[in-house]
Amino acid sequence: MTDSLRTLKEDEIHLWWTFPERILDPDILARQLAVLSVAEQQKQQRFVFARHRHQYLVGHALVRDVLSHYFPVAPVMWKFNVNYYGKPFISWPLDCQGLNFNLSHTEGRAVVAVAWQTDIGVDVEFSTSRGNDMGIAKSFFSPIEVAQLERDPERFFDFWTLKEAYIKARGMGLSIPLDSFAFLLSENDHPRIHFHDGCPDRPERWDFNLYRGEGYRSAIAVSARGRRAIHRKIVPLESDVRRLACDWAEIPPS
Ligand SMILES: CC(C)(COP(=O)(O)OP(=O)(O)OC[C@H]1O[C@@H](n2cnc3c(N)ncnc32)[C@H](O)[C@@H]1OP(=O)(O)O)[C@@H](O)C(=O)NCCC(=O)NCCS
Repeated sequence: MTDSLRTLKEDEIHLWWTFPERILDPDILARQLAVLSVAEQQKQQRFVFARHRHQYLVGHALVRDVLSHYFPVAPVMWKFNVNYYGKPFISWPLDCQGLNFNLSHTEGRAVVAVAWQTDIGVDVEFSTSRGNDMGIAKSFFSPIEVAQLERDPERFFDFWTLKEAYIKARGMGLSIPLDSFAFLLSENDHPRIHFHDGCPDRPERWDFNLYRGEGYRSAIAVSARGRRAIHRKIVPLESDVRRLACDWAEIPPS
């Protein structure tokens, strides 16, 4: 491991949470825009709705600032590439490529998960039912999950976020059929995964964590066993916009 990887241990996963609606200071937003690449700025400008532009800006500035927490690289300097399915990874500096990350954002929340040398995926969803949960489950989920949902329909977003976290960790998007694997949920244990015939993966190489917050669900998938998940909730400080360095404050749990 490179010496400059400061505080992320090999047996840890870090999750950095922020709250886009709390980030409204024009100086801070200008500073966040300034750390994005030209391509990211152009993508951000293409969103039709202001709230989506805001969500994208905060999420992608968070990625850059979080990565700069671990390496002495200015947030603006990171370069990313994407795999065939669009999953971003660090392409420069080359010696940081073992630091894997994944971003998820939804109304009111953005989260970046980071881990050293393992596949990682994270998903956060605003967990208000859109009214046809069981119909969606029957159309797309595994029959094993549908059977669990029939006993406890409240768990729809548990399945949703876990499935999304898994396909994000694999980095293959919806090319992995959502009914080719199933989660087994219990009250007291970590979620477990089951692969149906034809899904070339092994349950023993995965760990999952599920978080059931007020109005939100989130899940992490990591292709390593026994890593400890550490959460940080942060908001940007009053910003000196000339300073392109990580400038966030930890906030107490809410
Ligand atoms: C691309 C995908 C990851 C989008 O997921 P999402 O829930 O809409 O969005 P999230 O906020 O969780 O994640 C988006 C971020 O993941 C990252 N991402 C993009 N493609 C990715 C991929 N193939 N794998 C992992 N991460 C990816 C990017 O950083 C992206 O941020 P950006 O859109 O601002 O550039 C993909 O899983 C997808 O299209 N999902 C469709 C939703 C769905 O039907 N889910 C079924 C769940 S049961």
